[in-house]
Formats: sequence, structure tokens, C-alpha cells
Amino acid sequence: MQTFRYPAGTLHSTGDSRAENANLFDIVIDTPRLTLSPPIPTDAPALLSIFSDPQVMKYWNTAPWHALDDAMRFIDRSTDERRDGLALTLCIRDKQSGQLAGKCMLFSFVGHSRRAEIGFGLSRAYWGKGLINEAAGALIAYAFDVLKLRRIEAEIDPENQASAAALQKLGFTQEGLLRKRWEINGIVSDSALFGLLAEEKNCANDGQGTTNQTG
Ligand SMILES: CC(C)(COP(=O)(O)OP(=O)(O)OC[C@H]1O[C@@H](n2cnc3c(N)ncnc32)[C@H](O)[C@@H]1OP(=O)(O)O)[C@@H](O)C(=O)NCCC(=O)NCCS
Repeated sequence: MQTFRYPAGTLHSTGDSRAENANLFDIVIDTPRLTLSPPIPTDAPALLSIFSDPQVMKYWNTAPWHALDDAMRFIDRSTDERRDGLALTLCIRDKQSGQLAGKCMLFSFVGHSRRAEIGFGLSRAYWGKGLINEAAGALIAYAFDVLKLRRIEAEIDPENQASAAALQKLGFTQEGLLRKRWEINGIVSDSALFGLLAEEKNCANDGQGTTNQTG
């Protein structure tokens, strides 16, 4: 497991193959207030408490979790996908309290087009403190600087104003509206599609600094 420090990252990549992704997914990301690291089995109760909250899951594309098994399955799947270079899911940990604040992930990688999708969710106790700007900002820096992605996408419920505002603050642009794309628990909803390009990254996160590559 290597550490990528944000601001001022220090890892670098030489390509974007799936095998290399798997290697580059063994990562801990360190930011001023947070540590982003892979979920482990002891995270299950904290993850369940966050993602069983209907408010947190209001705009998610799955129903709220119900049991510890849901959290365990999530941890197992994240571990497998990380090992196989298919998705990079990290827990967001508050350095000061040691508590688990949420998760963020890169998934739906399309290697030859150098793109992936980003998603994130925080415990209600951590909303409104700019944590996603810090966590997702660092993950995005890692995706562009180290994984060498060209484009990151996010698909959200158009009514999810907090998420739209967080994405815009990260530098994303809304590129489209996909009508009646989801049906969750009998409710049909549209999707807003956001995109961020590598060359736009440095316009985002004013005051957060930038990442450096060395080597
Ligand atoms: C979306 C979410 C991750 C945002 O994280 P956050 O750390 O609370 O966001 P921030 O504190 O950085 O706020 C981002 C911006 O959104 C704005 N915002 C927050 N809540 C808002 C709301 N309900 N309506 C409108 N804007 C809102 C903030 O004011 C801030 O903008 P500003 O800095 O210009 O004031 C968090 O609310 C969350 O986990 N929600 C539930 C899960 C979810 O919906 N995830 C996205 C699904 S893809």
C-alpha cells in the first residue's frame, strides 16, 4: 500500500492497463483532514450506520442498507474490484476523531478511453463541512495525475442539489439530462450527467493547491 499526499502527490504511472490499475489501486490518500483508505471488515458497523440512513440514500441508485451483511458484501466486493483493477473504493476517515465519515469511489473504468465515473456519500454528521471537496478533490487528482484518466463522469439525481453543488465546486460541468433513467423502489427519476476533463482539473479546488508528480 502506497500513500499519495494531497496537496503534493508523489506517485506516478506509466500507463493505464488493467493490471497496472490493480497495482495503483493499493493506495492510501492523505489530505489535511482526512485519510482515504480501502474498506476493511471492521468498518462494517460504521458503514451500515451511514448507508442505512434514508436521508443519505435519498438520491442513491440503491435502497438503504438493512443489515450488517449489506456492509460486508460491499466490503468484499470493493476488495475484489480493487484487486482486479475494476473500481477504486475508499473509506473517508476523519483524522481528528478517527471516525468513518463516508466513502468515495471511481468505477466504470473504460481503459482505452481513459475515463471513469465518480461517486461519494457522507454521514449526515459530516455534511456541509467541505469534506467532499477535500476527499473527492484528492481522488480526482489521483485519477488524473497518477491513473492518467482523461475524463471523469458523475451521474446524479437532478434534484440532488447538494451533490450538484459539490460537483460544480470540484470543477464539473453539467453536460446532459438523461430522462427516466432509473426506477428505484418504484420511483422513476431522471439523471443529470456531469463531466470533468483532465485539463480542467486545476481550475477547481481553489486554495487546495495542486498535486505534483515526481520521478
Ligand atoms: C452530496 C454530499 C456528498 C456533499 O458533501 P458535503 O461535504 O456536505 O458538501 P460541501 O460541504 O462541500 O458542500 C458543497 C456545496 O454544496 C452546497 N450544499 C450543501 N447542501 C446543499 C443543499 N441541500 N442544497 C443546495 N446546496 C447545498 C454547499 O453550500 C456547498 O457549496 P458552497 O461551498 O458554495 O457553500 C453530501 O451531502 C452527501 O453525502 N449526501 C448524501 C449522499 C449523496 O447524495 N451522494 C451523491 C450521490 S451520487
